[in-house]
Amino acid sequence: MKDIKNYIEANKDRFLSELFDFIRIPSVSAKPENKADMIRAAEYLKQQLLLCGADKAEVMPAQGNPIVYAEKIIDPSKPTVMVYGHYDVQPAEPLELWTIPDPFDPQVVDGKIIARGADDDKGQLFMQAKAFEYMVKTNQLPCNVKFMLEGEEEVGSPSLGPFCKEHKELLKCDIILVSDTGMIAQDIPSITCGLRGLSYMEVEVTGPDHDLHSGIFGGAVANPANVLCEMIASLKDEMNRVTIPGFYDDVLVLSAEERAEMNRAPFDLEKYKKSLGIDDIVGEEGYTSLERTGIRPTLDVNGMWSGYTGEGAKTIIPSKAYAKISMRLVPHQNSKKISKLFEDHFLSIAPKGVTVKVKDLHGGEGYVSPTNTKAYLAASKAYETAFGKKPIPTRSGGSIPIIALFEEVLGVKSILMGFGLESDAIHSPNENYPLFNFYKGIETIPWFYKFYTE
Ligand code: BES
Ligand code: MN
Ligand code: MN
Repeated sequence: MKDIKNYIEANKDRFLSELFDFIRIPSVSAKPENKADMIRAAEYLKQQLLLCGADKAEVMPAQGNPIVYAEKIIDPSKPTVMVYGHYDVQPAEPLELWTIPDPFDPQVVDGKIIARGADDDKGQLFMQAKAFEYMVKTNQLPCNVKFMLEGEEEVGSPSLGPFCKEHKELLKCDIILVSDTGMIAQDIPSITCGLRGLSYMEVEVTGPDHDLHSGIFGGAVANPANVLCEMIASLKDEMNRVTIPGFYDDVLVLSAEERAEMNRAPFDLEKYKKSLGIDDIVGEEGYTSLERTGIRPTLDVNGMWSGYTGEGAKTIIPSKAYAKISMRLVPHQNSKKISKLFEDHFLSIAPKGVTVKVKDLHGGEGYVSPTNTKAYLAASKAYETAFGKKPIPTRSGGSIPIIALFEEVLGVKSILMGFGLESDAIHSPNENYPLFNFYKGIETIPWFYKFYTE
């Protein structure tokens, strides 16, 4: 793998222009009007993987968006690495907050690719494809490789579970390799060993059966918007603990040593606050920021709407109020159980004068991976080779629920070699991915293959 740097240098412009063609396809899984783009993105990946050297690549139908499957089997007696990634992206809205004219027309500014999907996950999965290309074209591929790339990760991967159950034989592998997470900093490599689970709910509060004049009726009937705010506010106490009965029952408690260990990871509070434009941090009492996102569950409103939100004033008591609420879960909490606890509790706190409905939108389980496996050690050596530093194991606050399902359905563990930075603004306006991380990822990945197979 010694010539990987030369290979990148010789091909770096092509890598980028191929990635940009991929990013230009607006594959937003949340929007029905982008259905055709999902197929185009899948077809593009299939062609790319064939060019990279796959023996076969297919766009396989699934319940929802198709799944791209590709493979190169060099010797059935050798181990098989399966790369997972997602070609769908989050919506780009609000468009007016982007500093480039079109979020789907990538621009390089100050050494960063700016575009929706630049990091999550088009840029990152492309690193996997190009690392694979390098190993094939230079005759250094040491094992079998499969690719399984889905188009519904950002909407909860509804089709991938059934797909895995149906194609267990096809998806047989020894390890699943994923670039869809982050690292601490460009000079502090890290390996994600934990992901949080998720329960995502939508609630609806209904008061009067139509919007009312807020002067004629104000003060005499329950206002669903006020009620919803009070109900949501009551979901956390003064210590920022979630008040849903039973919410913490199954939370895995870490030992003092484990907590000390995770807090040894570098964390610069001042830099953190500055990068977010906040003057102070808030979270569950008794825990550090790393713990609050890494090992503690939480509850957040993702969106709320009710009544009149147009320009100027309209004096009404709205008939309805809505909110989308997510709970991030940690090991041993079960998302179905938590969703049910939420539903029961939220219905039980509904005051008189309104009716409340709760919908369970989607969810999934968290993931923890040990640091003493062959895959972890191989990844660790790979980072050490490419960065000149041993990577730090970290726990991320984000979720990739399908990773737990892979273990459940396929019986295979995943290794998370993500190269994103917290400053990449994934899911936000001006999502970006530094060229450094893109090329460094391509450089690091082949070393994983080498160390994993020797
Ligand atoms: N790639 C992210 C998850 C992620 C990002 C994990 C950074 C760790 C660090 C993934 O695409 C994502 O956004 N997942 C969703 C969950 C999904 C069910 C919608 C999330 O975490 O909100
Ligand atoms: Mn992602
Ligand atoms: Mn995402």
